[in-house]
Amino acid sequence: MCGIVGYVGARPCRDLLVAGLEKLEYRGYDSAGVSVIEDGRIDSVRAVGNLANLRAAVEDHVSNGGGVAVAAPPATTGVAHTRWATHGRVTEENAHPHGDCSDRIHIVLNGIVENHAELRQSLAGEGHRFSSETDAEIVAHLIERHYDGDLAAAVRACFAELRGHYAFVAMHADEPGLLVGARKECPLVAGVGDGESFLASAIPAFLAETRDAVAIENDEIVTIDASGVSISDAEGNPIERGAEWVSWDVAAAEKGGYETFMLKEIHEQADAVAETIVDRLPTDEGVDLSEVELDDSFLRDLRRIVIVACGTSYHAGLVGRYAIEEWARVPVEMDIASEYRYRNPVVGPGDLVIGITQSGETADTLAAMRLAREHGAKVLALTNVMGSQATRDADAVLYTRAGLEVGVAATKTFVAQVAAMYLIGLRLAELRGALPPQRVAELIAELRRLPAKIEATLAACEDRVREVSSTHHDQRFFLYLGRHIGLPVCLEGALKLKEVSYIPTDAYAAGEMKHGPIALLDESTPVVCVATESPVLDKVLSNVEEVRARGAETIAIATEGCERVGEIADQTIEVARTDWILQPIVAILPLQLLAYYIARARDLNVDQPRNLAKTVTVE
Ligand code: AGP
Repeated sequence: MCGIVGYVGARPCRDLLVAGLEKLEYRGYDSAGVSVIEDGRIDSVRAVGNLANLRAAVEDHVSNGGGVAVAAPPATTGVAHTRWATHGRVTEENAHPHGDCSDRIHIVLNGIVENHAELRQSLAGEGHRFSSETDAEIVAHLIERHYDGDLAAAVRACFAELRGHYAFVAMHADEPGLLVGARKECPLVAGVGDGESFLASAIPAFLAETRDAVAIENDEIVTIDASGVSISDAEGNPIERGAEWVSWDVAAAEKGGYETFMLKEIHEQADAVAETIVDRLPTDEGVDLSEVELDDSFLRDLRRIVIVACGTSYHAGLVGRYAIEEWARVPVEMDIASEYRYRNPVVGPGDLVIGITQSGETADTLAAMRLAREHGAKVLALTNVMGSQATRDADAVLYTRAGLEVGVAATKTFVAQVAAMYLIGLRLAELRGALPPQRVAELIAELRRLPAKIEATLAACEDRVREVSSTHHDQRFFLYLGRHIGLPVCLEGALKLKEVSYIPTDAYAAGEMKHGPIALLDESTPVVCVATESPVLDKVLSNVEEVRARGAETIAIATEGCERVGEIADQTIEVARTDWILQPIVAILPLQLLAYYIARARDLNVDQPRNLAKTVTVE
């Protein structure tokens, strides 16, 4: 999740642009850059690391003449970018802004260009030369291909060729005082000041300069100059849209208008899943994990997978285990990393050990990965952070692309991890011929529909969950029950509630209840049951009956339209229908919201719960 800022107006803009990036720091970054039009050319400074590095580099560059005649009037048109790497290593060359061959076009981009490989090949065939490993650079060259003196027309032509999940802003040295942006799924917003205009990924970037914001919607092209903002559709037909006055304070703006980062990140889950899967499912026929440096022959002959992780990441691994065993028929062993590292595990060549860690820095997970590697196993890191230690302690890496997660309680990184595990399971099934092509195509099509189903589920269930939370926030204990693919959802839902509300909570395999936990139940016990459609739903419903027979209150998570659950449970919260193995991606949503709203009702700090750290770098 990168940060974009653009400015046109009458003021010198380098500092304005860097200040705008600093207001987007919460989006996460590993490098940054700023380009301005000055003295008829584009002058650019980029730096790896945090924004202090960029600021220092800009000051050094400008004090050394900045490559332009000192007499040149200060630049008043520019773009800037903070990068959260998804394609290409964390290097200065890969930092944005990116230029075309002539270096007279510069662009900044957030998101993913799904068809970047084929476009790069086609552009290279026309003689274009690339200076980075990124997908974003393609856009600068694509605009160059179409540029004929009209930047907006060239951007529209470029937009028509791109596929993916992105927003970008472009400028041309021949057209100072003009920026052109385009939006496809990723956020882009314009700010209108007095004789100046802004474009940005999020309102905080320009909130200190103007509170008049103009929303840019999907498939729209936006042009800004000192006089204001004009919007068109992808064909160039004008769209009228006025500015809205933003009342947020800066802190609220960083949360995108949500009251907390956790709630903002719960609502970013559709994007997190979309960006994690979008360019790995290039066709209906197969999963593209070519970025994962493991030979197909190794994966085809794999004898066993071991998944090691902690906390929420462990729960994502549990979902992955069911998917991999169901689809690819590869045995999967799960272990909590802090246990695995000390139990002298039997592991060696022929095994694949998957370390799941969103931070890439969890000490126990890193130790477990290193131990497995020392024993000769191949290690795959599944992480959200490029350049993290886990990426250096593994033979191969698969990135989730959830963007920076500020809230200590993992939410969007969980669904992104689960989505990534589904990709691994499907890829293994394809390689080993374990699923018929028709079934693979069905699952790919359904995976592609998940972001929309996440949005629909959140929209449909949030008020219902808030209502349930309002009558349960003072409960002394919750029990969560689930079976099969529903069990990891219970474990994760229970962890969320524990983490942010501090209410004692337990989660059990529903079939295990009669072996002891049922003694916990009385009329005061709320029992949350994950009862989404699956081959074991009848069994779960029997357990719900047993729970009710003890007088406990049952709150069931059900697949939309599955009436049977509503006939048995006291309260039912519906989630979107999807393939039963994919249900965890939507079933977890109401449980995240339940934990959130109960904690808010208890007036607790959900973003920084007591005793917790976002990354546990010690054992
Ligand atoms: C989850 O909400 C917690 N913040 C915690 O359990 C976390 O998942 C665990 O510490 C693992 O972190 P990692 O994914 O960065 O390795």
